[in-house]
Amino acid sequence: MSAKSPFENRPPEAPHEASDGGFVVPCTLHVNGEAVCVEVERSLPLDALLRRTLALKSVLHGCERGTCGSCRVLVDGEVLSACTRSASSLPPGARVETAESLQDNERMRTVLRAFVRERSTRCALCLSGLAAMAVHLDREGKTFDETAIDALLEGAHCACTGRGSLRRALLTRE
Ligand code: FES
Ligand code: FES
Repeated sequence: MSAKSPFENRPPEAPHEASDGGFVVPCTLHVNGEAVCVEVERSLPLDALLRRTLALKSVLHGCERGTCGSCRVLVDGEVLSACTRSASSLPPGARVETAESLQDNERMRTVLRAFVRERSTRCALCLSGLAAMAVHLDREGKTFDETAIDALLEGAHCACTGRGSLRRALLTRE
């Protein structure tokens, strides 16, 4: 996490309201290659831990219901909407990757360049989760055809440009 993050100018996160009387449990994860050992409220969503405690601002506060895609990260190589899981429910030592850890990844750069070329970038609320998913598919060597891209866009909501330009960008990335 040494390089300057394109997400770091985002505003600070509002405090998370305790929802379970402040009952805390230990939580041990590997986040972007670094061991993280913290005590968290048992119900604290993973996105809140990443954004508020660890200041990883690519993980955004959107619908909080698993429908917009703005908080998507990779957990043990699988895509997860981080608002849908509590941090403490992940297996100890689970490997979490956010867009910050992928910013030097050539596949990520390719996807972001395509978003810029197709003018898909406005507020960027939807982009980090989408780019993380695209890197995941590429890395897994999965077919990245129109069907896969439509499935990927299914869980994303872009209020700025809609899905058309995102779809074009993903299809034509070089
Ligand atoms: S904030 Fe997690 S999917 Fe919308
Ligand atoms: S660029 Fe604003 S929500 Fe997608």
